[in-house]
Amino acid sequence: MRKYNVAVVGATGAVGEELFRVMDELNFPVDNIVPLASAKSVGTNIEYKNKEYAVIELTETSFKENKVDIAFFSAGGSISAKYAKYAVETGAVVIDNTSHFRMQEDVPLVVPEVNPEDIELWKKTGIIANPNCSTIQMVLSLKPLDELYGIKRVDVSTYQAVSGAGKAGMEELFHQMQDLLNFQLGESKKESFAHQIVNNVIPQVDVAMDNSFTKEEVKMIQETQKILHKNIAVAATCVRVPVLRSHSESITITFENDVDVNVDEVREALERFPNVEVIDDLENNAYPMPIIATDTDITYVGRIRKDLYSNNMLHYFNVADQVRVGAATNSIRIALKWIDLEENK
Ligand code: A2P
Repeated sequence: MRKYNVAVVGATGAVGEELFRVMDELNFPVDNIVPLASAKSVGTNIEYKNKEYAVIELTETSFKENKVDIAFFSAGGSISAKYAKYAVETGAVVIDNTSHFRMQEDVPLVVPEVNPEDIELWKKTGIIANPNCSTIQMVLSLKPLDELYGIKRVDVSTYQAVSGAGKAGMEELFHQMQDLLNFQLGESKKESFAHQIVNNVIPQVDVAMDNSFTKEEVKMIQETQKILHKNIAVAATCVRVPVLRSHSESITITFENDVDVNVDEVREALERFPNVEVIDDLENNAYPMPIIATDTDITYVGRIRKDLYSNNMLHYFNVADQVRVGAATNSIRIALKWIDLEENK
């Protein structure tokens, strides 16, 4: 198998660091690692397979100078907007973790277990977009159920971890936890979220849009439709909770009118789907939770139950490590699938 020069833009960030871990675990065919970050990180090193790599400042020429073949971007939308084109110009494939290119028609938006065929579109722009973390774990459970019964509508409420706001978000929760115990909460830094996050629940992730939904909620709606190639009605309520890692989602699906949901069939369809596992034994207190999902590549589904009033409605709870399943692991799986397609053309 050919080996590749791999750049990570945002190498020092929460997702960047996880990308190296997943690359190592999945034995990614790496020739050279090119860790890129801001000037502030120059002088620090990244360790990969017991070897140190110096962090390089991201510039317009970083990709050309380092003969990059695959560039993962995870440093925010404005950085992707400015620098992705320089990676593409050198012939690299860009796998972008930000929202910048996701809804662009000629850019594929891919969850490899769900719509791998869309990767072929990459040639149009050189870019493959990695969906929003909350969208990825949701569509991983929607896809087998859509194939089973046909989905008409999805209503979802999220319980999103602070690491969705990067390292700064995690540090803010840590500091506020300490300050809470020391009765010094009034002095805590409150920058990553609109309000104090410790001992609180904030029904806002990202900024407000004109339609009274937030940007995160609109992403979940639009991206789900793009990935599933279907105009499913989606209503999302995205909520930030004081959990360090792994997003949870309470999902209600309305299937086509004539469907009579059979929970055993639902369980089997979910179990059969790659990288989805069912934990569903309420009597024995067994269901998915962030402490189960964290540091895994699995989307866990539980609390599966038929609606008490409508035969075509289903409720369940869905949890995944959003830094891995929702970002790093999905990106690496996209890259592995891309390699597979390119090498077997
Ligand atoms: P740096 O650490 O040098 O600022 P997180 O999502 O955890 O907040 O991490 C954001 C990532 O994006 C970090 O690796 C950060 O690097 C990187 N980053 C932020 N601004 C820039 C920039 N102007 N150029 C390159 N990388 C950047």
